Amino acid sequence: MSTPVMHGTESKPLDVAWVRAQFPSLQLQVNGYPAAFLDGPAGTQVPKQVMDAVQSYFLNSNANTCGAFATSRSNDAIIASARAAMADFFNCDKDEIVFGQNMTTITFALSRAIGRELNSGDEIVVTTLDHDANVAPWRALAERGVVIRQVDIRESDCTLDLEDLKKKITAKTKLVAVGYASNAVGTINPVAEITKLAHAAGALMFIDAVHYAPHGPIDVRALDCDFLVCSPYKFFGPHMGTLYGKREHLLRFRPYKVRPAPDSLPDRWETGTQVQELIAGIGAAVDYLAELGRRCDPTAKDRRSALLAAYCATRQHEMALLSRLVQGLLAIPGLRFFGISDPKQFHQRCSTVSLRLTNYTPTEIATFLGERGIFTWDGNYYALNLTERLGVEAIGGLLRIGLVHYNTLEEVDRLLAALQDIAAR
Ligand SMILES: Cc1ncc(COP(=O)(O)O)c(C=O)c1O
Repeated sequence: MSTPVMHGTESKPLDVAWVRAQFPSLQLQVNGYPAAFLDGPAGTQVPKQVMDAVQSYFLNSNANTCGAFATSRSNDAIIASARAAMADFFNCDKDEIVFGQNMTTITFALSRAIGRELNSGDEIVVTTLDHDANVAPWRALAERGVVIRQVDIRESDCTLDLEDLKKKITAKTKLVAVGYASNAVGTINPVAEITKLAHAAGALMFIDAVHYAPHGPIDVRALDCDFLVCSPYKFFGPHMGTLYGKREHLLRFRPYKVRPAPDSLPDRWETGTQVQELIAGIGAAVDYLAELGRRCDPTAKDRRSALLAAYCATRQHEMALLSRLVQGLLAIPGLRFFGISDPKQFHQRCSTVSLRLTNYTPTEIATFLGERGIFTWDGNYYALNLTERLGVEAIGGLLRIGLVHYNTLEEVDRLLAALQDIAAR
């Protein structure tokens, strides 16, 4: 398996105090404990820059698009600027950015449009590691006779079985749908390598980068993928989804749309009135990350370079937290760890881990932790193929701990102490 490359310049260590000061909700207390937000994979907290942008939209720019008056023009400018921000975020052109309600809705819309052109017997490849939002929209095309082939994992470390993937991609494959990183066990998939395999077979490559986006920089040009989706609410922005599509594909495939809506890019894919106030927040989320990057590398020459510097610093911080977390977890009696636990392989994972504890369901552990102000997630987190494959779906799934750049070593230590406590009971 190839090693995922963390693009980025050398930058100063993360200023965690500055980071935390940007996120007002981190001050929350629960039962006298400071809240520890280890639930980032289900949605991250939001910096005040994002809140301000949403409020400012309502104060100054609350109108529909393309009107001949001030607030409408101002809204048009906000949307254009958020689109430019996402283009920098993905490293693509502005008209290749499509906003939508969330990743799931966007992916169903895209699968319906692509499905119009597929024939019975055509094949689509999905994986056992993926969130169901990157499985169900493709499986829905089975109604048209499309054959869905599912790539297995290596159970020992929850990485994709690349040999199986090579077998599943055939001359009949029309699209390969793979996650950039697993929202359940944190595995980072070699998506550039998989894109090459898909293209060699004449298939399109669709990447679900929802889980990867808060952890690493995305470069759609370098990946050469055909489509890539992510959700700003997982990387410090508001609850929305964003699609990158290669221009030629966004022009070629036919979305379901109303007749008066423009047929140009990207409008033809943005059906109905968008959640404009939140689009304002998307631009602010990207700018927050860029601001963070400029603090880490004041020489960053443009927003894209600043984003790369931000990810370089956040990755270092997250890996330090992850090392402490995994080492601590592996020492807890009765704890079963899922995914990559060998620090030498940490370049193939991000800072999201899943576990089970003997004698407790994941819900019981999450409830125990929640009462101590530690927020984790329990169940299958919609990574249903995976929890079924691991044989844990019928017994409550897994407990997930997700670390992002605003988390601290103190929070990791509090979590470990609480898990040691419940495990010893
Ligand atoms: C990896 C992954 N893909 C897709 C989704 C679905 O995203 P959305 O909530 O934007 O539809 C999630 C949400 O948790 C996710 O973690």
